[in-house]
Amino acid sequence: MADRRIMAMPGNEVMADALAARLGARRAVLDLHRFPDGESLVRIDDDLSGAQVDIVCTLSGPDALALPLIFAARTAREFGAASVGLVAPYLAYMRQDVRFRPGEAVTSVLFADLVSREFDRLVTVDPHLHRHKSLSDIYRIPALALGAAPLLADWVRDNVQAPLIVGPDEESAQWVAEVASRAGAPHVVLRKVRHGDRDVEIAFPDMAAFAGRQAVLVDDIISSGRSMIEAARGLSAAGFAPPVCVAVHPLFAEGALGTLSAAVARVVSTDSVPHGTNAITLAPLIADALHGLETP
Ligand code: R5P
Repeated sequence: MADRRIMAMPGNEVMADALAARLGARRAVLDLHRFPDGESLVRIDDDLSGAQVDIVCTLSGPDALALPLIFAARTAREFGAASVGLVAPYLAYMRQDVRFRPGEAVTSVLFADLVSREFDRLVTVDPHLHRHKSLSDIYRIPALALGAAPLLADWVRDNVQAPLIVGPDEESAQWVAEVASRAGAPHVVLRKVRHGDRDVEIAFPDMAAFAGRQAVLVDDIISSGRSMIEAARGLSAAGFAPPVCVAVHPLFAEGALGTLSAAVARVVSTDSVPHGTNAITLAPLIADALHGLETP
C-alpha cells in the first residue's frame, strides 16, 4: 500500500482531515507564512520520501494561492515525494475559455499549463466545462472532473416539495438536467446574456405549466450572484414564490450573499469552498476518487 499524505493549504483543513480519515492517510504539515512585505513562505513535512502526496487547495481567490501552491509542490518533490497531486474542489480560471475580446489571455489554458507542469494529477469537482469539453483538452496530467449533480439532487429531493429545477443559462443545462432527472422533477433552462461582470439579462419561456411548484435555481458557480438574482426576479414576475438556490461552488464576491439572500428563500452550496451556505459535503465523492488513484 502506498504511503499517502494529505496536505492542506490554509483554509482547506476540514476537507483535508475528512479525506485523510476516509483514505487512512497521514495528514502532513503545510504551513504558509506571509511576511509583512506580502511574500509567502511554505513549510512542509521533510520526510516525504516515496510518499504519494495530495495537496488540498480549493481555488477560490486563485491569484494569491497559485505561487504558494507551486512552492509547496516543488518543495514536496525536493523532500522525496514520489508523486504530488492537486485536489482542488473548485478549479479556477475555467470560465475564461476563449479570447472574448482581442488581446485577452485565455487563462483556463495558461493555468492548465502551469498546473500540468507542477502536479502529477488533478482531482476537481464540476469544473466549468463549456468551450473546453473535457479537462484533457487543456490539462496534460490525469485530471478527474467529478460531478456533484447526484448530491445536489439528493439534497433537493430531501428538502424541497414539488420542485421545479431551473438553470439560469444554457451552460447550466448539463447540471440541471441531471439534477432534475435524479430528483424526479421537471426542469427549465433559461437564456442569459451577460453584459458585464455584474450585469446580466435573463430571458424566460412560458412557465405556466409549472405553476405551484417550488423553483430551485441550480448553477455551478455563484460569484456576483447576479445570475441567480435576475433569475429570481423573473421567477417572481412569472408568479413563482422566492426560489431556493443551489450551487456547487459558493465563491460569493463581496456583498453578493446579502443581496441574493434578500431575493430568494434559501441559498445552499457544496463545501467545495468553505462558506456559511455549505449544506452538501463533497468529501465522500472526492475520497472515493482519490482511493481509485492510489499507486501500489
Ligand atoms: C457562468 O456561466 C457560470 O455558470 C455562472 O452562471 C456564473 O459564473 C455566475 O456568476 P454570477 O454569480 O457573477 O452571475
